[in-house]
Amino acid sequence: MANLAGKKIIVVGGSSGIGFGVAAAALENGAEVVIAGRSTDKLKVAEKRLDGAGRVTGIVADMANEADVSRLFKEAGAFDHLVATAGTPPPNDPVGETDMDFVRQFVDGKLIGAVMLAKHAVRTLDKGGSMIFTSGINKDRPPVPGGSVVSAVAGSFTYFARALALELAPVRVNIVSPGWVDTEMWDEIVGAAKTGYFEQMGTRIPAGRIATPAEIAPAYLYLLQNEFMTGETIHIDGGQRLV
Ligand SMILES: NC(=O)c1ccc[n+]([C@@H]2O[C@H](COP(=O)([O-])OP(=O)(O)OC[C@H]3O[C@@H](n4cnc5c(N)ncnc54)[C@H](OP(=O)(O)O)[C@@H]3O)[C@@H](O)[C@H]2O)c1
Repeated sequence: MANLAGKKIIVVGGSSGIGFGVAAAALENGAEVVIAGRSTDKLKVAEKRLDGAGRVTGIVADMANEADVSRLFKEAGAFDHLVATAGTPPPNDPVGETDMDFVRQFVDGKLIGAVMLAKHAVRTLDKGGSMIFTSGINKDRPPVPGGSVVSAVAGSFTYFARALALELAPVRVNIVSPGWVDTEMWDEIVGAAKTGYFEQMGTRIPAGRIATPAEIAPAYLYLLQNEFMTGETIHIDGGQRLV
């Protein structure tokens, strides 16, 4: 497994949730980390919490905005790995009530944004490096009703990575697909009802509970470090796909 000491890793979405967990784990393994997100305040708080002894930099950028994405990679300079965990709560209305503006905004932020990250990352990404994007359980167990858009978008990442892994080789491209993870996104989606949702799901899935970001981070680290992994989707969901 490759050593991450001294490697520069850009984590888009690193100011919160799964991305914050990846940034913390990468720092523990000696990497230099650039975290990116839209909110300056969230980045500042995350930089302080990560306490990376000069090895953490925050850059404000919206991955749905190409000028921002271009500037992000210019400011970050040459780097070794890109990890994209950024995302926002998906549309969840029944299909007959779909708000098309919200759907476009979601697809822009997640899928078009991933294409823009790849487009601009290749210019300064080390050829021995990799890209990791984030999919999710909704492609395997879509919420009913209202799960069609998030399921389609999450599902598309597996094929995005397979094609990019061929096109960009020797740069490696992989996907992590988590089950439910206790992150700030859930506070936004269900608020105080989060505990009840998690308890209920915990009784159903083989792992018996919902994951923490720290438990998901090792899947990203494995893909960063194993130089024989490319074009692959790793599921880390406590068996949630089985029920
Ligand atoms: N949590 C789960 O149960 C779960 C399960 C499966 C898959 N996922 C997927 O994993 C991804 C991360 O989820 P999470 O739970 O870690 O969410 P989170 O805690 O809300 O974190 C999302 C991060 O992405 C950033 N972000 C959002 N939109 C962005 C944009 N357009 N450009 C740049 N940064 C952006 C946020 O910062 P700003 O708001 O400041 O931009 C934040 O740092 C999402 O795509 C989600 O669908 C999550």
